[in-house]
Amino acid sequence: MHRDIEGILITKGQIAIRVRELAEQLSADLSRDMSHLTEIQQEGRVVLIPVLTGSIVFVADLIRHLPQKLSLGLVAVSSYPGKSMESKGVMMRSDLPKNLAGKHVILVDDILDSGQTLDVLKKLIQEQRPASVRICVLLRKPGKAVVDLKPEYVGFDIPDEFVVGYGLDYDGFYRNYPEIATLKPEAR
Ligand code: IMP
Ligand code: MG
Repeated sequence: MHRDIEGILITKGQIAIRVRELAEQLSADLSRDMSHLTEIQQEGRVVLIPVLTGSIVFVADLIRHLPQKLSLGLVAVSSYPGKSMESKGVMMRSDLPKNLAGKHVILVDDILDSGQTLDVLKKLIQEQRPASVRICVLLRKPGKAVVDLKPEYVGFDIPDEFVVGYGLDYDGFYRNYPEIATLKPEAR
């Protein structure tokens, strides 16, 4: 795996610091939004929905910095079938969690590229009348969005390059590489 890596864009140290900051921000916002409720009433109101598979590493680190009593509801989507690097639209591979009415929902993904994936998911979640829906992404490629979608939490803005590591894959591989990196041309 390491021999396929061209260069490191964001180190694991930088990621760790930023993930903690995002969690603190998210946690403060949730506390503010639920401040009119008693502690008992607040319990169980927060649902994080990680978009599989790219967000698994990010969400695993993120939730361990969140003090709220929360639940996880997974959703599986694929937007890059096979080896292609061009988005071919969104394919839902599982149903969304039910019973999101009145909940504070946070959609978590590895990267916001065209924005189509998160746009579709956000609209579907809103149909269930949650108390709020927020979007938290580790990475964003500015200028690439084809939809009008503003994520509330963004770890890093990155140049328009294909990256792998920390959950992001190329053809299913490199998700376990601990840093955000680019691949050598011969590995693609
Ligand atoms: P969007 O719907 O175009 O925003 O696509 C988002 C999804 O495409 C992400 O969840 C990733 O799975 C994938 N993706 C976009 N850019 C990259 C990249 O640079 N590396 C790996 N996966 C990517
Ligand atoms: Mg993905």
